Amino acid sequence: MKAQTYTLSRRKFLSTLTTAAITSPLLLDSTASVAAQNRKLNHACIGVGGMGWHDLQQFKQHSNVEIVAICDVDATHLKKAAEVLPNARTYTDWRELLQKEGKRIDSVNVTVPDHNHFAIAYRAIGEGKHVYCQKPMCHDVAEVRALTQAAVKAGVITQLGTQIASGKGDRTAVQWIKGGAIGKVKHAYLCSNRPAAIENYRLVGPRPAGGQTPPAHLNWDLWIGTAPMRPYSPEIYHPVKWRAWQDFGTGWSGDIGCHIFDAVWKGLGLKAPKTVVAQVQQAWQDSPERRGDTWPQGDHITWVFPGNELTEATELTLEWFDGAFYPPQQIQELFSGKEYPAESAMLIGTEGALLIPHGGMPVLLPENKFKDYKLAELSERNHYHHFVEACLGGEKTESHFAQSGPMTEAILLGTVALRVPGKVLEWDSDKMKFPNDAQANQYLNRSYRKGWQVGRF
Ligand SMILES: NC(=O)c1ccc[n+]([C@@H]2O[C@H](COP(=O)([O-])OP(=O)(O)OC[C@H]3O[C@@H](n4cnc5c(N)ncnc54)[C@H](O)[C@@H]3O)[C@@H](O)[C@H]2O)c1
Repeated sequence: MKAQTYTLSRRKFLSTLTTAAITSPLLLDSTASVAAQNRKLNHACIGVGGMGWHDLQQFKQHSNVEIVAICDVDATHLKKAAEVLPNARTYTDWRELLQKEGKRIDSVNVTVPDHNHFAIAYRAIGEGKHVYCQKPMCHDVAEVRALTQAAVKAGVITQLGTQIASGKGDRTAVQWIKGGAIGKVKHAYLCSNRPAAIENYRLVGPRPAGGQTPPAHLNWDLWIGTAPMRPYSPEIYHPVKWRAWQDFGTGWSGDIGCHIFDAVWKGLGLKAPKTVVAQVQQAWQDSPERRGDTWPQGDHITWVFPGNELTEATELTLEWFDGAFYPPQQIQELFSGKEYPAESAMLIGTEGALLIPHGGMPVLLPENKFKDYKLAELSERNHYHHFVEACLGGEKTESHFAQSGPMTEAILLGTVALRVPGKVLEWDSDKMKFPNDAQANQYLNRSYRKGWQVGRF
């Protein structure tokens, strides 16, 4: 399909972005009402390999969902999905899917590498579709702001792919934080020290000077999409390993941050940070080649957020650790004698501490002090099905963009800080810039490849 261009000047694009416009989403628009009346959601899956295969299964399991169209740039993934969905129409190009499916679809899920989230989700929202978009919502801060605003303005149903946020564990943690179980919160420590991640997909580079002909089953031009073109090379981009590269992924904190932040962000009702600063793997910092192309294999990012009635002070410091950076030993020891969860959040309060292991139930510490603390009665909830039901007229989704957009922005500000290590960046959220660092401002958005400029509003 011929590349279609959606142009919007950089100045106009940025001028549409202000926090003030991000309020709560409207409930239903006319498109949703049609789906609600029919009690059937006609859905399209964009990206059906990797996490996309999981997402497809989740949507398929809902009795009110009809997956009518599927799209993937890799014919092997598309074929596998078509075998379980023989009636779904198949596409290689998501633009063609959106154009041809038109009114035949109500919703899409966007489960492709991060660099193409915005283009697909923004265009789908522009067409009035409900959108389930994988985390992190977008590749860049400015994209998140624009997508959040577009979703709110269009009144469509949205859900960020933070499926753990709907689980009992995270929802319990949110209740405990809001209810003041550990008193006023003094400090937060978040981490993702996932074993084997470095060997498996946090590659060091450099990328090979030349390239190879892509395999016949892969449309490399469409895989690249909005990013700068580069020669195809096996084993380092598609699948999964694109995460290592700045053009495609969002660094370790961008990759996992939305999961680990979610309960903390929601529980504390955090707003845009005041400052952010990063310390990174020394070998990466010392290598101009690596700094220009890949993400560090280890990060320690510190945000200072405005405090509120749930925090002890007028500011709250939140630290993130990944790779070889770990939360301080004395913090880990609060989980007395037990193995500290590799991916978790720990909140230190005036009356105790709260540990939220990723995907598990939260623990109040010291355990003895809180042994009689009552668990809230919460029902199980499926993040995907909650989205479907919202599209059919049900209650608001857990991670709609008005909720998860500002959180994703804060996380991606950390990703910007990685690129200027050691600099304390002051953030002006309304103006969408760092008044004290022109270099960092360059990393808030990017130029799209010719023919792939995005933006219609
Ligand atoms: N929520 C979670 O727990 C979770 C877990 C893993 C991945 N993810 C997210 O899911 C997304 C995909 O990650 P992954 O690990 O599955 O990557 P992957 O590379 O394994 O799979 C991506 C899939 O999308 C297809 N694809 C790539 N570009 C496409 C395009 N332009 N149009 C259509 N299809 C395209 C690929 O062929 C492949 O089938 C990422 O945003 C990632 O952050 C979320």
